[in-house]
Amino acid sequence: MHANAYTDPFYQKEVHAASADTDGMVDEFCSRCHTPIGVIAGEIPPVDGSRLSEIAHMGVQCDFCHTVSDSNGTGNAPFIVTPGDTKWGPFNDSKSAYHASEYLELHTRSEFCGICHQVTHPVNGVVIDDTYSTWKESYYAENDVTCQDCHMSPGITEFKANPGRSASSSPKRDHISLHSTVGGNAFVTGMLGAEEERKLAIERLQKAATLRLDVPVTAVKGENITIEAAITNSGAGHMLPTGVSELRQVWLEIEATDSNGQKIYRTTKTGNSSGANPAVIYNTVLGDSEGNATLSFWLADRVIADNRIAPKETVTEQHTFSLPENTAYPVTVDATLNYMSAPQELIDHLFGKGIHEVPVITMVQASEMIYDPDKPVETQAEVPGFTVPLAVLVLAVLKITGLYKKQ
Ligand code: HEC
Ligand code: HEC
Ligand code: HEC
Ligand code: HEC
Repeated sequence: MHANAYTDPFYQKEVHAASADTDGMVDEFCSRCHTPIGVIAGEIPPVDGSRLSEIAHMGVQCDFCHTVSDSNGTGNAPFIVTPGDTKWGPFNDSKSAYHASEYLELHTRSEFCGICHQVTHPVNGVVIDDTYSTWKESYYAENDVTCQDCHMSPGITEFKANPGRSASSSPKRDHISLHSTVGGNAFVTGMLGAEEERKLAIERLQKAATLRLDVPVTAVKGENITIEAAITNSGAGHMLPTGVSELRQVWLEIEATDSNGQKIYRTTKTGNSSGANPAVIYNTVLGDSEGNATLSFWLADRVIADNRIAPKETVTEQHTFSLPENTAYPVTVDATLNYMSAPQELIDHLFGKGIHEVPVITMVQASEMIYDPDKPVETQAEVPGFTVPLAVLVLAVLKITGLYKKQ
């Protein structure tokens, strides 16, 4: 995503919309993180990229990050660069035949990432991206687990060493960092055909959270039953979701189905006319100066709502429903935590309907059963696993004895 920070088609659509809405006031602001070289070289504005050099198209690329020699803190890209022959990096004993090398401790710390992964509105200071600051307040900062540990090592939710050499002439190291720097973006990586990164993004999302489902073992027809779903942000070192979390969506889908396939209770992202309830969506909602919710974060004037899940935090949802008289026991309750990089309506609005489908990524799932209170649970508990093998066995016997003939 760093290499595509400028060419990313989603970014391109949004930055043009932002530029139009603000009469070009945000052109340089957005570009400072999405094409830092374009800004440093004075090639932006204009935002249309007509003066942009080839190297500035490469977004957040090698030479930019390794030319950063210092920073005036975090947020809104206060980097200091020293372009030239010297490249800065995380080792104090690096030698290269191609360039001079300097050690930059900043590269080994989250504050380096915090240069860009912390965004406030340039006029009114509304927080748009608080990845760095929510990390800073977390268990992970306290225990010295950095962004690099999770995002630049094979560990995904913890540091795991990746021994090797970063160049053929360099010494063998205990760890050299991975530079695919994957987050949760399976949408744009898919659009760009970056298959490896798309898969890694899905894998990362699938390690971000855990889900525990509590349902009563038995329930009487007609009486209210309450089920509880507990979602824990167990793997992300910041809010879940984070980044442009006014665009990202995480939600829990619940489905209770009886053994005849009758849907008894359902939550879906939007709810619908067929009786499904709207699910809670975990993200931020920004408001414009009139207080209306907006996805155009450059117009944000306030944060209307924020129910993202903090690092290590558990949130619990309760759902109440009753079993209809015709319920066929047992009832299966399935819960699925989903992630979407952006609302489909926004992508349809930007690109046209039917052009890009935003994938729904399953992060984690859990299932539990509710049994008939009038029968011993042990006998019922065997039912789902037992009927299928039994049917196969009966068929096999019938076949052997010649009693069963395929039509
Ligand atoms: C987003 C900024 C960023 C970009 C883009 C980037 N690097 Fe790095 N690079 C880093 C950071 C940060 C580290 C140190 C990570 C650590 O300490 O865990 C690093 C480490 C390195 C190292 C030391 C060995 C290693 O892998 O740990 C080399 C060599 C290197 N980068 C080369 C490159 C090259 C070549 C590219 C382009 C293909 C590149 N970098 C792109 C930030 C960046
Ligand atoms: C110069 C600014 C800059 C710096 C420094 C920077 N990033 Fe980024 N990063 C970006 C931008 C911009 C994007 C979004 C690109 C896009 O989606 O179009 C991004 C994307 C990402 C993503 C992918 C997000 C997703 O949704 O999948 C991850 C993960 C990430 N950065 C981690 C890091 C880490 C870790 C560091 C520090 C080692 C770092 N970044 C340093 C600007 C930066
Ligand atoms: C303990 C491991 C861990 C640490 C530490 C960590 N992350 Fe993440 N990060 C994750 C996981 C897991 C996800 C996927 C879930 C999500 O989107 O929140 C993720 C997602 C992301 C995303 C994509 C978010 C989205 O949904 O668009 C970005 C950007 C990112 N991280 C940047 C950072 C930065 C910058 C830091 C340091 C300030 C950092 N991360 C620290 C594990 C970690
Ligand atoms: C201080 C740095 C910074 C500034 C300024 C900034 N961004 Fe970003 N932008 C990021 C980072 C970091 C991400 C990745 C966060 C994530 O993946 O959730 C990102 C992600 C995005 C995305 C999501 C892309 C995707 O592939 O899903 C869009 C769209 C975007 N930015 C548009 C803009 C626009 C428009 C502006 C100006 C109004 C802007 N950005 C200003 C750092 C910045």
